[in-house]
Amino acid sequence: MTASDAEMAPSSASPAAPNQQRRPLVVMRGVSKMFSSGTVALSDMSLTVNGGEFVSLLGPSGCGKSTALRIMAGLGDVSSGTIDWPSSRINSKGLPEGDISFVFQEPTLMPWQTVFGNVHLPLKLKGVSKAAARDEIMATLATVGLKDFADAYPRELSGGMKMRVSIARALVTKPKLLLMDEPFAALDEITRQKLNDDVLRLWKETGITVIFVTHSVFESAYLSSRIVVMRARPGRVHADFPLHTSLERDAHYRTSEEYRQACETVSETLLEAMGGEDTH
Ligand SMILES: Nc1ncnc2c1ncn2[C@@H]1O[C@H](COP(=O)(O)OP(=O)(O)OP(=O)(O)O)[C@@H](O)[C@H]1O
Ligand SMILES: [Mg+2]
Repeated sequence: MTASDAEMAPSSASPAAPNQQRRPLVVMRGVSKMFSSGTVALSDMSLTVNGGEFVSLLGPSGCGKSTALRIMAGLGDVSSGTIDWPSSRINSKGLPEGDISFVFQEPTLMPWQTVFGNVHLPLKLKGVSKAAARDEIMATLATVGLKDFADAYPRELSGGMKMRVSIARALVTKPKLLLMDEPFAALDEITRQKLNDDVLRLWKETGITVIFVTHSVFESAYLSSRIVVMRARPGRVHADFPLHTSLERDAHYRTSEEYRQACETVSETLLEAMGGEDTH
């Protein structure tokens, strides 16, 4: 299935595109997290992410990026501080029901289920039958270039295709917020760049808000409308800045002076976060 990666539509997405919904979507205020081991993963972390943003979260290993994402997704409690969802209806667990999806580094597909069955899972959990979900699932598979692979099993897919199934599974419920924790770290560079273009296209088409954890300066500079750099021990925000560009983010952008400068800015800020003073 090596040709499959080439099936995706070329990206015309641009993080410079106007983002429709500038209202705060999630607001972390003074969030601290201490694990029972005594490790302080986050200390007094504040971050507001607005609707329609594409925010990359970078920082040294262990600075609390995954912890912050998991807390936002309701997969862990805060030790102190608050998380608010000003534009969402909140359920009894304090979470905006159905509004958040998570994509992990591993695609975590069920091997005994087809691609269709895997993407059906979140709808099944909501009580939607396969028959009732068929149109939605097929439309979502089409957006990630996998509509011809609905009946395939995960073992028949390449790494990039498995990750696309994982993204389709996250998108099928039409969430407002997509949390991605190093989703492409295990993929080769070409596949990674293709998936970067796919995610940009989906972001532009759907208006979804994305918080994207990565260790890659290049990836973050390519994708983001905003960069948040964290520092470690204890984890907190070190720098937070927008990434404007006059160019469409495509193959030409990757070789442009603007992109080179963006990479330099992100890289320098990351180096500061590993040693120097806070910049905000
Ligand atoms: N379940 C846990 N129990 C105890 N300590 C934890 C747990 N999860 C994370 N930690 C600790 O919290 C700190 C932050 O971890 P976290 O996984 O959020 O970092 P990260 O920035 O995502 O790192 P990486 O870039 O390596 O993925 C680390 O010191 C880690 O050891
Ligand atoms: Mg992590």
